Amino acid sequence: MKKVTVKASQSYEVIIEKGILSRAGELIAESFKPCGIMLITDSNVSPLYADKAKRSLEQNGFKVSTFVFPAGEESKNSDTLVKIWSALASVPLTRSDMIVALGGGVVGDVSGFAAATFLRGIKYIQIPTTLLAMVDSSVGGKTAIDLPEGKNLCGAFCQPSLVICDTDTLNTLPKREFSCGMAEVIKYGMIDRPIIFDLIKNGDIDDTVFECVSAKRDKVEEDEFDTGVRQLLNLGHTVGHAIERLANFSLSHGEAVAAGMAIITRYAVKEGLCPKEAENKLIEALNSFDLPINTEREPAELAKAALNDKKRRGNSITLVVPMGIGKSELIKKHPDELEEIIRLGY
Ligand SMILES: NC(=O)c1ccc[n+]([C@@H]2O[C@H](COP(=O)([O-])OP(=O)(O)OC[C@H]3O[C@@H](n4cnc5c(N)ncnc54)[C@H](O)[C@@H]3O)[C@@H](O)[C@H]2O)c1
Repeated sequence: MKKVTVKASQSYEVIIEKGILSRAGELIAESFKPCGIMLITDSNVSPLYADKAKRSLEQNGFKVSTFVFPAGEESKNSDTLVKIWSALASVPLTRSDMIVALGGGVVGDVSGFAAATFLRGIKYIQIPTTLLAMVDSSVGGKTAIDLPEGKNLCGAFCQPSLVICDTDTLNTLPKREFSCGMAEVIKYGMIDRPIIFDLIKNGDIDDTVFECVSAKRDKVEEDEFDTGVRQLLNLGHTVGHAIERLANFSLSHGEAVAAGMAIITRYAVKEGLCPKEAENKLIEALNSFDLPINTEREPAELAKAALNDKKRRGNSITLVVPMGIGKSELIKKHPDELEEIIRLGY
């Protein structure tokens, strides 16, 4: 069993082990008294893993209700949130009870936001079942829903009380979803963990998840509310979010981030900030998981879409620019420069 402790405004453990889902109840019972639990999951994950999770929770004295919503980013909205609030209220759950989010980043983000807001805040536990959720969204306490105007526009910082990663659940993940998670894994390799490039070649998934979670832990502990070093985790995201939005979400988050990372890295190489070998290594890794390394969208429309993004602050934008493998920096640019930056990285 691998463990990472995250010491943010609330301390919690991320536990990583194959097959650990059947022991979820036991692990939760080690730190929490028997209470009511709303197990929230989606329509794909429910038939695969909800029974196993529920059984383990009930065997350890928890009283479990279940809420299942249709799988997909389209569900990460205010409708689903209101339905979850109503389900919590009709059990009813009290402030001594908790939510368990079983699923990918969509389940985790909306469940976390429900936990942050129901009764002004109840505890929640993440059991991520996608690679992306294990290495990224389940750790760090960012919760959110999307609005028609854009992704993740409403949310709250709210740290989970525990994260349980059963890497065996990745065996049922569609190949494309696994690759999307790999885009985020590769991102950590580019930011400051070059060893990740070796781990993914060796195919050791537990070590890979552990290394990524450790990398994320470092940023979250130093900058929980995302005003400084945590922004390094946005490598590839400025352009990636624009690609994702322009594709009307037909491209996944991970695919868009992959293309965004490739674009900003090619820009850095052209500007002489980053060695060409780093670009080659990144592209080779992205190619090995069939991830896109560019987009057909024009630089002008990408820049326009990116500048509508919430991460723009005043008259400057902060870009994460790779200086080599395992070495990225935050660089401030004037918004007017973005189109040319994208053009250079195209
Ligand atoms: N909170 C954060 O810090 C953070 C960070 C990155 C991304 N996100 C968010 O995460 C979301 C993307 O997460 P995601 O990629 O996990 O998407 P997702 O939750 O939609 O899961 C992808 C698909 O895989 C299915 N699935 C999940 N686990 C499965 C399993 N084990 N076997 C078979 N199918 C399975 C889901 O039902 C879904 O169809 C986005 O909304 C993004 O904004 C949040």
